[in-house]
Amino acid sequence: MARTVPTSDDDPYAVENLIDPYPMFDRMRAAGPAVWLDRYEVLAFTSDAGVRDILLDYRTFINGAGVGPKNLHHEQAWRPQGILETDPPMHTAMRTAMTDVISPRGVRALREQFQLFADELVDRVLDKGELDGSSDFAEVFPIRAFGDAVGIPREGREENLLPHGAMNFSAFGPENDLHRQYFERGEPTREWVMANCARENLSPDGLGAQIWEHADAGEITPDQATLLVRAMLSAGLDSTVLAIGNTLRCLLENPDQWAIVRENPRYVKFAIDEALRLESPFQSFYRTASVDVDFHGIPIAAGEKVLVFPGAANRDTEKWGQDADRYRVERQAGGHLAFGMGIHQCVGQPISRLEMDVLFTTLATRVATLEPTGTPEPYVHNTLRGSKSLPLRVAA
Ligand code: HEM
Repeated sequence: MARTVPTSDDDPYAVENLIDPYPMFDRMRAAGPAVWLDRYEVLAFTSDAGVRDILLDYRTFINGAGVGPKNLHHEQAWRPQGILETDPPMHTAMRTAMTDVISPRGVRALREQFQLFADELVDRVLDKGELDGSSDFAEVFPIRAFGDAVGIPREGREENLLPHGAMNFSAFGPENDLHRQYFERGEPTREWVMANCARENLSPDGLGAQIWEHADAGEITPDQATLLVRAMLSAGLDSTVLAIGNTLRCLLENPDQWAIVRENPRYVKFAIDEALRLESPFQSFYRTASVDVDFHGIPIAAGEKVLVFPGAANRDTEKWGQDADRYRVERQAGGHLAFGMGIHQCVGQPISRLEMDVLFTTLATRVATLEPTGTPEPYVHNTLRGSKSLPLRVAA
């Protein structure tokens, strides 16, 4: 198929671009609706319209061939494909069970237990005064709150959940040194995670057990129930930890915006969405064309992989205005692509939102001073974005 698209020799997976991808995203967006990344031989999309339209058209741009660079129709997946890497009709059955469990009612019931832990955690950080916003705050909350909600044992969570998630998200990028590092660290956690997807190890009142009830009702198979609990445990932790850290960092670096939130905690929800937009935790993933298609004037062949960057689309000035690079809690940031779009849009979104809402509302109502005490260290990962450390001081 003849096509003319600008070519780029940028490497989105080079460490310097992972640490600060935004100048590269600006170049790619300015070049046109798509660029051909020479190094990876793939079309990459960075505009809001391009990424959004690909994600919405799930029949043309499928997930069943994998959400990473490998085509799983021809190559072996590193593990059995879960809900994200399936297409309808199998996806529909799994998604229906999951949305039933993560229903607005089910999620509302979690508020009270999340609040108890948020109070405890904010007490703890106020006692400390100086802390690391990543390891002492962002990591702690989902490991406890989300782990309890799913109903997995408390013992072993810290050592297993984050390395497991980091490995899972590595599979959506290329097999470079970083990928190998995260797989090496994650490999020993697989047994613990899989053991805790089994119904006998899940507490009877958690979300995991509720997934199994759908298997009892014959709506999904036992194998699919295992895969759905696995999806919660592999997709739900790192993403939320990084989102909490990114929100905290945005507030630390923009004291005027923290002042708005402090004065009026009604802005907490907006502060979270704006941080998700500006610093999207899950930066990039792939789709595979199922047919030959002319997409936004670009011919794409059946079987071809395309790389989408929600993290870039969320800073597109065409969509977000000239100040797209600024953190403004008064912006209407809803409609960003940090949770994806279309039939695979994040099914765990209501839980993460509740976790963050409870945590940051508690912080905003009880903490007056929030200030940096050092330079944050970036978390370097092929597809995830956040901070490894976030030195800060708080006072009531
Ligand atoms: C702030 C935190 C989170 C972010 C930024 C996030 C981001 C995303 C994104 C971008 C997608 C779509 C990927 C694609 O289209 O290829 C997705 C899907 C998914 N997420 Fe999340 N996620 C978060 C939290 C969670 C939580 C807490 C859970 C746990 C239940 C979860 C479970 C899933 C699952 C199972 C899918 C696949 C849905 C499907 O294929 O239908 N996520 N997430």
